[in-house]
Amino acid sequence: MTRIGRFITLEGGEGGGKSTQARRLAEALAARGLSVLLTREPGGSPGSEVLRTLLLGGSIPWSPPAEVLLHFAHRAEHVEKTIRPALAAGTWVICDRFYDSTAVYQGDGQGADRQQIAALIALLDFRPDLTLILDVPVETTVARLATRGGGPDRYESLGEPFFARVRAGFLAIAEREPDRCVVVDGRPAPDAVTASLLAAIEDRLPVPTA
Ligand SMILES: Nc1ncnc2c1ncn2[C@@H]1O[C@H](COP(=O)(O)OP(=O)(O)OP(=O)(O)O)[C@@H](O)[C@H]1O
Ligand SMILES: [Mg+2]
Repeated sequence: MTRIGRFITLEGGEGGGKSTQARRLAEALAARGLSVLLTREPGGSPGSEVLRTLLLGGSIPWSPPAEVLLHFAHRAEHVEKTIRPALAAGTWVICDRFYDSTAVYQGDGQGADRQQIAALIALLDFRPDLTLILDVPVETTVARLATRGGGPDRYESLGEPFFARVRAGFLAIAEREPDRCVVVDGRPAPDAVTASLLAAIEDRLPVPTA
């Protein structure tokens, strides 16, 4: 299937504003007349959502290699059932987290084998056209998670040293892959962050005008 639409991923640590901004970007691009699909990982297809429950529910303490493989299982399903068909139909796809989150959370965060993760990324053979990394300092992550309410999920409960490793992991990916990745400061007010993200998209990808 040929890609006609563009595939944009939003990445970064907890509370950086990915979900907030993914919605805003989807609206802004749709307002320009584009067909847009907003999706997320883990999830985005029926089978992938089932795996999301197994991965984030916390009832099973997965071994690191199994957890990595489960992430690539939901991702393969998401790509084949949802993302590829959408791109082939000319739809732009905005995805809240993708493989960089596995590299960072399982690799940098939890010590899973990075070579194995790199091999699986190569095997998936499905690269985003653009990856927007929302970067915030650890204290911003902590403050935003505190105001969001609800109990901590699996990763939120791991604490500040984990958030710091995650932040450094995303910044290292951006340094290694500057053609694909743009780091955006997630600290300003939501409107300003959306404007920066749209500017990055326009800079990297030709956005058709409505
Ligand atoms: N630019 C911003 N300024 C202040 N607060 C923000 C901003 N963006 C998001 N928030 C708030 O911070 C919290 C986390 O935002 P959001 O859920 O979008 O982050 P996330 O990156 O998707 O987090 P997670 O990785 O946990 O899914 C929410 O309460 C949201 O309303
Ligand atoms: Mg989110």
